[in-house]
Amino acid sequence: METEKLTEEYFMSGEWLAIASKILKNKGVVLVLGATDSGKSAGTLLLANYWLKHGRRVGIVDGDMGQSHLGPPTTMGLVVKDKMIRGWEELSPDTLYFVGSTSPIHHFLPTICGTKKLVEEGKKKKAEIIIVDTTGLVKGLPGQTLKEYKIEIISPDHIIALQRKDELEPIIRKFKGNEEMIIYPLSPEAEIKAKTYPQRKEIREEKFRRYFKDSSFLTLHLNDLILRGDNYYGAGRALLGEEDIWFLEKELGSEVSYAEKIGEGIFIITKGRAVEGLNDFWEIKKRFGAGKIIITTEDKYKNLLISLEDQRGFVISLGIIQESDFKRRIFTIFTPLKRENLLRVYGFKFGSMQIDLAGKELGKIRPGEI
Ligand SMILES: Nc1ncnc2c1ncn2[C@@H]1O[C@H](COP(=O)(O)OP(=O)(O)O)[C@@H](O)[C@H]1O
Ligand SMILES: [Mg+2]
Repeated sequence: METEKLTEEYFMSGEWLAIASKILKNKGVVLVLGATDSGKSAGTLLLANYWLKHGRRVGIVDGDMGQSHLGPPTTMGLVVKDKMIRGWEELSPDTLYFVGSTSPIHHFLPTICGTKKLVEEGKKKKAEIIIVDTTGLVKGLPGQTLKEYKIEIISPDHIIALQRKDELEPIIRKFKGNEEMIIYPLSPEAEIKAKTYPQRKEIREEKFRRYFKDSSFLTLHLNDLILRGDNYYGAGRALLGEEDIWFLEKELGSEVSYAEKIGEGIFIITKGRAVEGLNDFWEIKKRFGAGKIIITTEDKYKNLLISLEDQRGFVISLGIIQESDFKRRIFTIFTPLKRENLLRVYGFKFGSMQIDLAGKELGKIRPGEI
């Protein structure tokens, strides 16, 4: 589908038009569901334009942090419009929420929480219709679970279910007969060509590259910021005594950059190689009265994507960690944020992706690793 054609109402088939005009009258929140390459994003824009053309104020929530259209990958975005739009490229988000990964897998909480927050934000901005584009994760238990709870929390008035066969049935049958929401099953257009994994990756990397194009290096003092998110670093109380560190180095046979007493036990960042669990770290557990020893290496933080946020938990800017001083809590990051705007930053979140300064994806960090 050509982007230009998205503004043309006649490009929508009769089936789509009927749904669009019904929602035009009833307004409310519209959730678009479908597997990858089922035409969710193209359909979202098409519908948004139809409502805009007919005078509605429309909020678009891009709830796909992988193939994102509003904001860089790893984020979800919201834009509220009153005038028709030519394509996703001309839109820039009013509000961004950081998921930290290019996939919702292992990140259901921020995915669900962010989508809800963005929908609420759209309502605050007086959008009459809010359409929510989503990721293509619909298959299997993870897909069903994510979508079920997303529907539960968003409680959309309308669900557009784009399915080739019956892939959405396990999700939508949980809401059948629910008088609060209308489900519209639709078939994706036959001519949609599926994108391969390398093509998707290339699209994401190009988006990262463009996002960080005019960036520079800034020094962040974590003590000035509120550390948010689900990481071990900064979650407890630092072990700063030299004797403790020497003890850990002797036991682990590796240089220790940082250690912290956390709820689970002891969290340790080592400099060089990863350390294997010899003797289950019995001596360390005994000395610190720790239940669990979690060890990670410094390199996990190198090139790690982070989010700098406002008080409401929305993104001010992303950054890429270049240098880390864990003890002094000082990080050097590569970011498009200008130094004078650092004062606006309130919170800091670690992401789960490592990318280089040109946007190339280097790897993913698993939950519980850092
Ligand atoms: N109705 C359509 N006719 C032809 N091509 C389409 C149509 N809808 C989407 N496409 C194309 O198919 C590809 C995937 O569509 P997209 O909307 O991005 O899917 P999704 O968001 O479900 O992954 C895009 O390149 C898009 O331009
Ligand atoms: Mg899409």
